[in-house]
Amino acid sequence: MSYPSMVNIKVPRRPIIAYRQIQPPDLAVLEKIHGELFPIRYESEFFHNVVNGRDIVSWGAVDQSRPDEESDELIGFVTVRIVPAKESEIEDLLSFDSSRTDQTLVYILTLGVVDSYRNLGIASSLINEVLKYASSLSSCRAVYLHVISYNNPAIHLYKKMSFQCVRRLYNFYYINGQHYDSYLFVYYVNGGRSPCSPLELVTLFLTYARSGLKSMAARLWKNDERKISKWPKYKESGCLLPTVQTKRMITIHQ
Ligand SMILES: CC(C)(COP(=O)(O)OP(=O)(O)OC[C@H]1O[C@@H](n2cnc3c(N)ncnc32)[C@H](O)[C@@H]1OP(=O)(O)O)[C@@H](O)C(=O)NCCC(=O)NCCS
Repeated sequence: MSYPSMVNIKVPRRPIIAYRQIQPPDLAVLEKIHGELFPIRYESEFFHNVVNGRDIVSWGAVDQSRPDEESDELIGFVTVRIVPAKESEIEDLLSFDSSRTDQTLVYILTLGVVDSYRNLGIASSLINEVLKYASSLSSCRAVYLHVISYNNPAIHLYKKMSFQCVRRLYNFYYINGQHYDSYLFVYYVNGGRSPCSPLELVTLFLTYARSGLKSMAARLWKNDERKISKWPKYKESGCLLPTVQTKRMITIHQ
């Protein structure tokens, strides 16, 4: 069966969005939406694993107000995989108990909403499903994901959902012959956040020492207006920490 493009579906005036697990009958639409939303071709095995729940957990969004035959058709999705915390690239950011080898993380593989259904809060609800699920797993310590550095809607969304941007990975993606950075976002659950590392404590101390010096200097300068008053503005270092590079090559079939 061939499906028309999902990009320009007409949204009914009052959509009734429902969320459910993705199932085998969703295969064709799921593959189609991925093809339309991402610059990457996923292997067909990936879609089969999603719809059959093989190592992947997923949620789909449907609009029940659409005509009958479309009322259960996916208009959004999120797919995740559970990974052992010990083998993950964010092990150092977790309050990791090395005696417990069963600790896990939930990694968001793909997330998307078809164009005409965007900005209705659907992706936020899908992420909430993931966060609820992760919190319900006693072994789980965090939900994390990568996002390409120019994807502003997604970055805005993750920040809005209180994910923390913990790293910038330079040249992480290689797409169509070009390198792109990625941001790594983490949402801690079940007490997964690590206490401050010695490095973080030093950074924190330096930050306070610097702002203390700055305000002292500002007071001194206020008393001596003959001095040139151009103190360089203190810039927040933001959420990004330096990291060991982890590159990801992406094969594109066009
Ligand atoms: C990212 C995506 C999943 C968001 O889906 P959505 O259902 O529209 O998300 P929501 O409605 O829950 O939230 C969207 C938020 O992004 C904001 N937003 C939309 N476009 C934006 C833009 N260009 N720049 C910054 N923020 C933007 C909206 O204003 C809204 O925030 P608000 O609630 O503070 O107003 C969707 O745009 C998408 O499918 N993109 C293509 C696939 C993709 O990039 N997936 C993520 C891969 S990491």
